[in-house]
This record gives sequence, C-alpha cells and structure tokens, in this order.
Amino acid sequence: MAKDFSSFLSAEGASRKKSPLKGLLRFMKGDMVSLGGGLPHPSTFPFYSLSAEIKSVAPTILNDTSGKTSSATSDLVTVPHGPQPGKVESLSASLQYGLGTGIKSLREFCKEHINQMHRPQYQDWDVLLSAGNTDSYSKAIAMLCNRGEKILVEEWTYPAALEMIDPLGVGHIPVTMDGEGMSAVALKDLLDNWGSAPDQAKEAKPRVVYVIPTGQNPTGSTMSIQRRRDIMRVAQEHNLIVIEDDPYYYLQFNVDNGWVPSLLSMDTDGRVIRLDTFSKTLAPGCRVGYMSMNAHFCTIVQNHNEVTTQQPSGFSQTLLAEMLVSHWGQEGYNRYLTENVRTEYLNRSRHLQACFQRHVNSKLATFIEPSAGMFIWIKIHLEHHPQYGTVSDSALMLRLFNKCIENNVLLVPGWQFSCKPKPADFDPADPLGGWFDGQATYLRATFAYASFEQMETAMIRFGESLNEIFSA
Ligand SMILES: Cc1ncc(COP(=O)(O)O)c(C=O)c1O
Repeated sequence: MAKDFSSFLSAEGASRKKSPLKGLLRFMKGDMVSLGGGLPHPSTFPFYSLSAEIKSVAPTILNDTSGKTSSATSDLVTVPHGPQPGKVESLSASLQYGLGTGIKSLREFCKEHINQMHRPQYQDWDVLLSAGNTDSYSKAIAMLCNRGEKILVEEWTYPAALEMIDPLGVGHIPVTMDGEGMSAVALKDLLDNWGSAPDQAKEAKPRVVYVIPTGQNPTGSTMSIQRRRDIMRVAQEHNLIVIEDDPYYYLQFNVDNGWVPSLLSMDTDGRVIRLDTFSKTLAPGCRVGYMSMNAHFCTIVQNHNEVTTQQPSGFSQTLLAEMLVSHWGQEGYNRYLTENVRTEYLNRSRHLQACFQRHVNSKLATFIEPSAGMFIWIKIHLEHHPQYGTVSDSALMLRLFNKCIENNVLLVPGWQFSCKPKPADFDPADPLGGWFDGQATYLRATFAYASFEQMETAMIRFGESLNEIFSA
C-alpha cells in the first residue's frame, strides 16, 4: 500500500472535500429514481450521433502518414445517442455531467494501459482523466504547494511549468542537468546540504521535484534506467514527491530492449505522480490526459476537478473511448504508438540530424543526439567567435538570433527555458529580452512539425547564419 503522504498536502489540498451534491451519485444504484442532480435531459442534446474516420491499425497500413483517408486505411467509429449493444459509450451518458474522474470506459482503458506498461509496485494506485498534462500539473501543484514554497526542477525546463507556479507564489530551485537529464548526484548534494547556503537558511527544504524524464523539453535528454533508479533513491532518502511529466514517453526511438521504465514503475511508496497525455500520441486538441498516483491523491484531485473543470470534454472522451476501447484495444494502441508515432518521430529526428550534419559547421554548433521526444538542443560554441571575450555572450547570441530571423529560420532562444533568475529589467513579452550574459548559449529546434524539405532549408539557413556571424 502507498505510504501516508497527508503531511505533504498544501492548505488547499488538505481542505478539498467532496462536493455534497456529487456525493449523492453513490446512491444511484438499481431501482433508484433520481429527482436529485440537475442533469439536463438528454433529449435536449441536439447530437444524434458522433462519427469519426480514424486510422486503421491493421499492421500493413499503419505506416501511412500521408494524411489521406480511404476506406482501406481508415475505419469509421460512431457513438450513438443512446445506449446500444456492442457500444461502450452513448452520447446521452458521455455528454452528461459526471464524476471528476472522467468517463469509466476511457479511465479503465488508461488504467489498464498503465498497468501493462508500468506495472506499479504498490496496490492502491489509481488513474484520473484530466484535460492534458498542463491541467494535471496545475492540479498536482495546487494539491501540494503553498505560497512561499519552492519545487525542484531541471535547470532547463518547460517554461509553462514555471509560468504556471510563478503567479501562485510557488518558486523553483534549478538542479544541474547532464546529457541524461536531472543529475541525481546534484539533487542529492543539494538536499544533503540543504540550509548551508545563505539563501536557504530561512527556506523550508523542498518536498516536490518536477522532472521530464523522457525526451526532455527543451534538451531532448532521456534518463537512463540507472539515472531513474538514482533519482528515485534520492527521492526516497529525502522524502520527495516526484511529479513525472512524461508527454514524450512514447516518442522513444529505440525500443529494442522495451520502453524505458518509468519512475512510476520504480515507485514502491506512492510518491510519484505520473502525468500522461494523448497530446503527442493522438492530438493535442483532444485535451485528454491522465494522472496515475496513490488513491489518496486521486481523491483530492477528483474533488478539485468536480468544482473546476469537472472532466475533459464529453466529445473527446467519448470518441477516444470508442476508438481505443472498441476499435484499437490495448494491442492496437500499442501498435499505433510503436509503429506509427514512434517511427514517424524517429525518421524526423534522423532527418533533421542529417541536415544539421550536412549544413552546419560542427566547430560552431553541436547537439547531443536525442533518443526520444521532439527536440534537439543546439549548443553554440561562442568560444570560436573572433570577438569572444570582448563582446558579451548575450550580444553574440542576439546577433546570431537576428541573423537567423533575417535568413528566415526561427529557433527558440535557449534563455526561454532557463530556470535561473532573470534580470530585474527582464521583459517576458520581448522575445529578445532575455539575452542575459553567461547563460543560454543554446537554441532549441524541433523536428516534429516541418516537412523534410523545410528541415533541409532551415538547416541550410541556420548554417549560413552561423558562418556569417562567426566570420564577422
Ligand atoms: C514537458 C511538457 N509538459 C506538458 C506539455 C503540455 O501537455 P498537454 O498538451 O497534455 O497539456 C508539454 C507540451 O509541450 C510539455 O513539453
């Protein structure tokens, strides 16, 4: 069973109670006639059915990414208005108000998927549907963090994760990274010596660590199995809750030895809150994800959901349920992930890397080959610039960025992902406002979206921009 983490709850988390109105739903059994909940009558829903033409997961046609549909490569899924034999969902039920857990069929599918993929090692874990990892993360933070507290984060991280907590008065402490993501040694060192640095003297020791372990955004790094074990060992030793934000988990390029084990799969205490999303595996506009964590945390987030977002859109849930539960099944979904999503991004990643190698002078810029995700994290070797040391790093990076824009190629400035304190005059609305000295001599490129031709063009233009700036 999970350990008792009640003492980790924020004031908000500790005071979240079940909505009494929703509590009445548990009496809805057997012959009960309800004149209770204010549910609209389904006859007023103007939707007779909901259909979608979806990719077929038959093995021979899975790899077709042309975007074309034909009856050979697609299946039609339809959700009827009312219950029908052989259908897992009906619109009259799934478009209705429901529990803050999400609809049963899809939630059970996700729970079974987690069970098969991650085999959680304690019994009382559970799964809740969310409106994606952004929603899950904000609920986890609300449950755990009080104003004035700080969470531990990778030194380069997903900006929205920081932008979300900042206005709440929840701070962050960067932990050094290497090619495998957050360093367990640095994490341990920081916590072993907590309180010794002057700025830590009055601060409570952090209790939450946020990591993106696979295909990290922005660095593209993936934690090895050993790194994952080490991080979990430090989390246990220092009694941390781990938020495992893993949207790129299924974008692993080499799965010859199986998918890399998640932090959830190594958790024997119930201290990991794992965030999964359909955003990168199906489509971001679905706005459906799921949280896997100990049952106590699930109840708190469910209570939060019931008075805020309630549950993801019924249209999304019902269509995903029909597709995943009735059509693809676990086996088909796994095949889709492996043979379609993973393969597509593997090919894209290889292509961008090859273009980089063809067109960029490796003395001026390099990257570590990503083994998952959507990104390459390009290090600019300013030390080879003739004015290095006399002109600030930030000025050189700004020149490079401007040159890239002039040459029609856009990469994301590295500072946007930096966790280090920004200067007082920092203007977040200005995309160039953050070129502060000594940091962020990186640019992030993604191979997720551009066509193969565009990637080639982008790397030609980037290579030329570098050459022009470094010859100045
Ligand atoms: C690390 C990370 N977390 C969360 C998200 C957002 O996920 P979702 O669409 O599920 O809210 C992203 C998307 O870019 C991301 O990179």
